[in-house]
Amino acid sequence: MEIRFVTPEARGAGALAVVVGVDGGMGATARAIDEASGGLLRRALELAGLPLDRGQIVDVVVPAAAGWDRVLLWAVPTPEVLPVKDAVELGAGLATAALARKLERLTLLVEAAGDAVTLGLVEGTALRSYRFDQFKPAKTNGAKKLAALNVATPHAVALAAAWPAREAVVAGTHLARDLVNRPANSLDTDAFVAAAKELTSLGVEVTVLDRAAMAELGMGALLGVAQGSRMPPYTVLMHWRGAGDDRAPLALVGKGVVFDSGGLSLKPPKSMETMKCDMAGAATVVGALHALARRQAKANVVGAIGLVENMPSSTAQRPGDVVTSLAGKTIEVLNTDAEGRLVLADVLAHVKATQKPQAMIDFATLTGAIIVALGYEHAGLFANDDDLAAKLLDAGEATGETLWRMPLGKGYTKQLESPIADLKNIGKPGQAGASIGAAFLEAFVGDGPWAHVDLAATSFTESEHPVGGRGGTGWGVRLVDRLVQDAFEG
Ligand code: BES
Ligand code: MN
Ligand code: ZN
Repeated sequence: MEIRFVTPEARGAGALAVVVGVDGGMGATARAIDEASGGLLRRALELAGLPLDRGQIVDVVVPAAAGWDRVLLWAVPTPEVLPVKDAVELGAGLATAALARKLERLTLLVEAAGDAVTLGLVEGTALRSYRFDQFKPAKTNGAKKLAALNVATPHAVALAAAWPAREAVVAGTHLARDLVNRPANSLDTDAFVAAAKELTSLGVEVTVLDRAAMAELGMGALLGVAQGSRMPPYTVLMHWRGAGDDRAPLALVGKGVVFDSGGLSLKPPKSMETMKCDMAGAATVVGALHALARRQAKANVVGAIGLVENMPSSTAQRPGDVVTSLAGKTIEVLNTDAEGRLVLADVLAHVKATQKPQAMIDFATLTGAIIVALGYEHAGLFANDDDLAAKLLDAGEATGETLWRMPLGKGYTKQLESPIADLKNIGKPGQAGASIGAAFLEAFVGDGPWAHVDLAATSFTESEHPVGGRGGTGWGVRLVDRLVQDAFEG
């Protein structure tokens, strides 16, 4: 979407959205438009009944003499001090309303909002103006999307200067959505590597480990998952060095299973339908790196993603196979569908050993159990460090990409004991599956702050999410952006 910031004018053309208070309060420009329309705006507000609901839109057709075709009076509560995440959510509602009215261009008049609120409203509108149209381009009379937004504000100059940093985050979110939405026959592991390499144009250094390099390093856990597919596996490292020194980086690690059939522990058909989304953790990492690099974040951040396809075949790993991980620990693979933890075990250990990160956070669609525990409301957070956990929880609250802390502990670790290997990859059925997955990862992260975010629910939805839409949500890009801004920059 094309966004411009302009100075408010009473006369214009096309559709105009006007921010009004829930009490119907209007700014000076809005009052001038009301006057030019013979008081229609005021009357429409009164007919709608004051106070308006939060986010309510009152449609008014104004006389041709007023210039505008139509005015959408849009109720935004306390625009001076509204929390930014609420502004984002309201902004997304405006995009939905524009879509419902088939508007492709819109002017938004915001006269009395704080700058952070105005930016939040615009960010929400931009976030929600997304369509995945690789395979179904918008037809002339089909679903359209809002393509251009003129933001009319008395602070046009300051906001135009501040917007690009937010636009970077919107673009990173849309990139993550595109990656998740692409099916595995479009986004295979090679295509994912190509997408990651595009970050080089933003100043990110990208290095790729192929099968031979990973075999040399001893990444037997990741390679075991990959061996059933003809698609080659990769580990991709992405360095953003924005701190201007050699400070230890924040490491972001992502599960990138481009398709999860379950392997020989094959999933039933229904569960497999959405398993193109099993690379959403890696998509979040790539999207976040895109956002951070594009807004020139003053932090050192390294992204690392493990890319594999989990398939059944005569070369696939069997239940009962024992693999040796990069960390040297042997793993009895009792269920080939618990593959994400095998991939991450090696990538986490590699990052820990080679990058010496100040903190390490992994993002993974790791377990169906986290959906059972938390639904689609929060992602699951597991951490060995209260300070890192608190920072993540705060960033979640600030952005609306919320986390709920879940337990680790000896009891879960104990379930992973194997009679023939250092550990096995599953625990007891029906018992705290998300914590078991996290406890498995914990065995490979060593000491130092680490957090695991299970986004199996939040990264993909089959119903419409208010901000994220349908399909890939890009969940986590805004969270990481906020975390870096608040806790790792400056
Ligand atoms: N990719 C799945 C988890 C998943 C489920 C993601 C639903 C998104 C939506 C993961 O690899 C998996 O299959 N986990 C198993 C683990 C079990 C075999 C211990 C699960 O959750 O059933
Ligand atoms: Mn699986
Ligand atoms: Zn999986």
